[in-house]
Amino acid sequence: MANAIIVGMQWGDEGKGKIVDLICPAFDGVVRYQGGHNAGHTVRFADRHFSLHLIPSGILHPGMRCVLGNGMVVAPGAFFTELGRLEEAGVDPAGRLFVSNRAHALLPWHAELDQAREGARGPRAIGTTARGIGPAYEAKASRHGLRLGDLASDDLEALLAAQLERVRTELAGLGAPEPTPLAEVAGLCREWAERMAPFLTDTEVLLFEYLEEGRSLLFEGAQGALLDLDHGTYPYVTSSSSTAGGACTGSGVPPTAIDGAIGVLKAYTTRVGAGPFPTELHDATGEYLRKRGNEFGTTTGRPRRCGWLDTVVARHARRLNGTGALALTKLDVLDELDEVRVCTAYELDGREVAAPPADLAALERARPVYRTLPGWKRDTSGVLEFEALPAAARDYVAFIEEEVGCRVDLISTGPRREETQVRGGGLLEELLGERFAGVLEERG
Ligand code: GDP
Ligand code: IMO
Ligand code: MG
Repeated sequence: MANAIIVGMQWGDEGKGKIVDLICPAFDGVVRYQGGHNAGHTVRFADRHFSLHLIPSGILHPGMRCVLGNGMVVAPGAFFTELGRLEEAGVDPAGRLFVSNRAHALLPWHAELDQAREGARGPRAIGTTARGIGPAYEAKASRHGLRLGDLASDDLEALLAAQLERVRTELAGLGAPEPTPLAEVAGLCREWAERMAPFLTDTEVLLFEYLEEGRSLLFEGAQGALLDLDHGTYPYVTSSSSTAGGACTGSGVPPTAIDGAIGVLKAYTTRVGAGPFPTELHDATGEYLRKRGNEFGTTTGRPRRCGWLDTVVARHARRLNGTGALALTKLDVLDELDEVRVCTAYELDGREVAAPPADLAALERARPVYRTLPGWKRDTSGVLEFEALPAAARDYVAFIEEEVGCRVDLISTGPRREETQVRGGGLLEELLGERFAGVLEERG
């Protein structure tokens, strides 16, 4: 059985949740491996609509095992809120939802720090989701973090006190309000310890056993390659490894067990928060994409910045993730445009460059070099056969395959599970094997 990783190829919100929901029936389990409730993954089918933040999108399929890996930062309160909503909607997670006892707890102090730091950065604010993601990872890296397994520790107060001392000093320095008192946080932790206990386990052992039994795993990336802490547009990034490599460190599954990665690429580009975005549009087309694509954050509701597809970015993501296939999403959003542009290179200080420069100032200066392709001016929503797409839309897909150097195995032309083309003969079919046909059936 094959194990595959789904990753975002841009700045997040590519439609990863939709793709995971669609293809996960071909796997035995879905694993989140990084990030926290900064993620917002939307799944729609029939008349149903779900927003997942911490829990893998596979949870909507009855019986699918779901794992929150050690590489995540988990706010227990957000976890229970999300779980409650799912249960209200008739989803039964009993006995199939597991959380790593090594994942770090995201505490109220982390959100307080996140907000105070963003305020202090003023015009240089990162535009974080204000959830406390950066400070939670920082506590982990500086080795004074609290893991979910530690919530039940006899030393809880001492562990918290060590963190609080640093939090208090920093908040005071930033002129922010006092942190939530220790006793209150300790009380929350005790309550969480009890409620979390049935879910907590050594997930790396569990996943190893699944693989030994011949079960297959789908890894659900959050954010996107350009938000990766190492490879993204630093410092305008998130604080985790959102590229494919993170799936291994963030789950404890070895690289040798991974059979392939599928990159989710939106047919244009969006970004929430600050930082360089060479193909951003500040004109009526940008406004059109935002409206037609409903580009408002799933997590924060913020309007997303919109622009043309950038294949410099997509190639960077392909190199980092080793993606052997693409899922191209939101093609339908371009339906009404007279022409469509694709950035194929940057012009930087009189030279043409094919990869994003590491230097932030250089990336800010880079000007996109565009190829203009004709629009198709026809409704593609829900078109299920590649040949049934207008010729100009097929040419657009072929141009992307050529520029990015990767076959497009899935084409999404609407938010719902049913509105997806699944193309055989590529990596996707190879990974799904005999279960490929089942995915087509479940799509509806
Ligand atoms: P994720 O974070 O990568 O899972 O993506 P989000 O869920 O944050 O954002 C993607 C948005 O686009 C969601 O509102 C989806 O319902 C929607 N969506 C996904 N695929 C398509 C598509 O092909 N067409 C349209 N119109 N909407 C889509
Ligand atoms: P999904 O999984 C889009 C962005 C924030 C900000 C930066 C840092 O839905 O694709 P953070 O709160 O992580 O410290 O914010 O990263 N960001 C996302 N943008 N989609 C996401 O997740 C994101 N998660 C974080 O907007 O620019
Ligand atoms: Mg999202």
